Amino acid sequence: VTPSIESDEKRLAAEAAADLVEPGMTLGLGTGSTVAFLLDALARRHLDVRCVSTSPATEASARRLGLRTEDFDAVDAFDLAIDGADQVAPDHWLVKGGGAAHTREKIVAASATRFVVIVDSSKLVEAIGPPIPLELLAYGLPATLRRLGHATLRGVPASPDGGVIADYGGPVGDPAALAARLSATPGVVDHGLFPPELVSMVLVGRGTVAEEHHRG
Ligand code: 5RP
Repeated sequence: VTPSIESDEKRLAAEAAADLVEPGMTLGLGTGSTVAFLLDALARRHLDVRCVSTSPATEASARRLGLRTEDFDAVDAFDLAIDGADQVAPDHWLVKGGGAAHTREKIVAASATRFVVIVDSSKLVEAIGPPIPLELLAYGLPATLRRLGHATLRGVPASPDGGVIADYGGPVGDPAALAARLSATPGVVDHGLFPPELVSMVLVGRGTVAEEHHRG
């Protein structure tokens, strides 16, 4: 897939998601290049919606485009959350966090009545594989990395919440089992495995269309 086809597909998925937004909704906005297309499409619709962003980058873009953004303190649930993903498996397990925002993105997705994922077709995978993004507490970091095994620091700035960004590079196997192990590891703030139960629908840009993928 060439870069331009990939970005066309991202735009198609994002525009299909923007069409799901209705006036008066409370909307959770994800992070990344696919979400950037969503923000453009939303701004063009001039709807009265309340938006909460999952990252400073999304917040800045949303404001620049004139979208009404609010702090998460002022909102306790979303009608709809829309976000990209790094991997989407056939059973709708996801990997997120390529942009290091997975902790916030998971909180927003879990607080939404509907969580819609927007991807280009290169994100569809047969089975989830490494790397799995991690956010770790800085306290005791060497010990947390040692207990995790196969984890490496990404070398990017800390998350807006002070978390250290790393990636788990070991075998994945059953995503549910790995997700449970990572969640149960002290020092792990959160990981980038998102379970299918969170996902309402995946919109996949493929060629010149946006496909709706629902879990079998
Ligand atoms: C950020 C994410 C992004 O949604 C994911 O990395 C996909 O990014 P892009 O839309 O740029 O391909 O999880 O933490």
